[in-house]
Amino acid sequence: MQTLTINADRLWDSLMTMAQVGATPRGGVCRLALTDEDRAGRDLFVRWARDAGCAVEIDQMGNIFVRRLGTDETLPPVMTGSHLDSQPTGGKFDGVYGVLAGLEVIRTLNDHHITTRYPIEVVVWTNEEGSRFAPAMVASGVFAGEFSLEYGLSRAAIDGTTIGQELDRIGYAGERPCGGQPVQSYFEAHIEQGPLLEGEQRVIGVVQAIQGQRWFDCTLEGMESHAGTTPMETRRDALLGAAQVIQAVRQAAEAQAPDGRSTVGQLLVHPNSRNVIPGQVTFSIDLRHPQDEALFEMAQAVRAAVDRVCDEMGLTGDLKEIWYAPPTPFNTDCIDTVRQAAERMELTHMDMISGAGHDAKYLAQVCPTAMIFIPCKDGISHNEIEDATQEDVAAGCNVLLHAMVESAQ
Ligand code: GLV
Ligand code: MN
Ligand code: MN
Repeated sequence: MQTLTINADRLWDSLMTMAQVGATPRGGVCRLALTDEDRAGRDLFVRWARDAGCAVEIDQMGNIFVRRLGTDETLPPVMTGSHLDSQPTGGKFDGVYGVLAGLEVIRTLNDHHITTRYPIEVVVWTNEEGSRFAPAMVASGVFAGEFSLEYGLSRAAIDGTTIGQELDRIGYAGERPCGGQPVQSYFEAHIEQGPLLEGEQRVIGVVQAIQGQRWFDCTLEGMESHAGTTPMETRRDALLGAAQVIQAVRQAAEAQAPDGRSTVGQLLVHPNSRNVIPGQVTFSIDLRHPQDEALFEMAQAVRAAVDRVCDEMGLTGDLKEIWYAPPTPFNTDCIDTVRQAAERMELTHMDMISGAGHDAKYLAQVCPTAMIFIPCKDGISHNEIEDATQEDVAAGCNVLLHAMVESAQ
């Protein structure tokens, strides 16, 4: 019997069509969570899902559930999904690949009139990126019971706008309760976003776990004063302090080499005027490590650095941890299902840990979960030049198809 395969051209066309929603001049996308562009992407996806004969439900966090019925509707769904929101200078694949691969699974089952015993659901999770609203993966976190609905809806962007307000504005504040529904299993397909698969020349990453993350907001206060008249030795320059803390953030990861990762990606300088010594600086800190103890040590090192810099420079500092996501292992049966699906498709594969965060992290708290990675060009992601080949995109979707069908029988 011929092995069931997805329609590679259709999946690619859908990806390229979705990439026009929020397209940037440099070939990427900007579909920040709950903006008009995100709404347009959601609307397009919902239309495609309805065309595929699926029921569509929106929950209170704006998560979109697309359902293909099983022959036994008393059973919980075999679920897949990812996100449609992007970074400000995001690519065409991060998140959207997992969503449209899920839709392609449904379209393929329709083409071949294949029924499954368990229902199949494809989910678009709200605000995975954490760029416009921190923390990341907040809506899958509410679904999994990690955060309250109230917490999720009240997350605010820099301008104070909340997730709840934006869901109302774009028409995606649904009524279905967020969470509390059993899920048979969850599989998420995603580009790797790093260089390992490409380096090893493997097509499929069989993801074992997601590394841990800690996010902080740090505010340093000094004193605003005149750039031309204030003697160098009496200045209390909050930005200079931030520069030193940022160095220490880098060193905190280097002290946990080779796996430590640390990033300061956002900086708000007050009053942000070229001839005023900065009086206040707020910046983000993202720490990651596969081992919780190492991640803890990195956080301790950053705390010590903030104290030291404030002491030395006459600043006051406030370091707030706003998110802690411990390392998350996936389910061994689901991992095996993914590996077997790759072998069935005769695809090269390797086991790996995810350096990026994914909604699968929170799903793993409520149901057996695993992920499927495919290579991306030069390992680059969170960049408009993010790229993947049509062949690899199809390969990952075929693995998703077989893993889901296997689990849904
Ligand atoms: C999600 O995009 C992450 O930062 O890992
Ligand atoms: Mn993603
Ligand atoms: Mn991302």
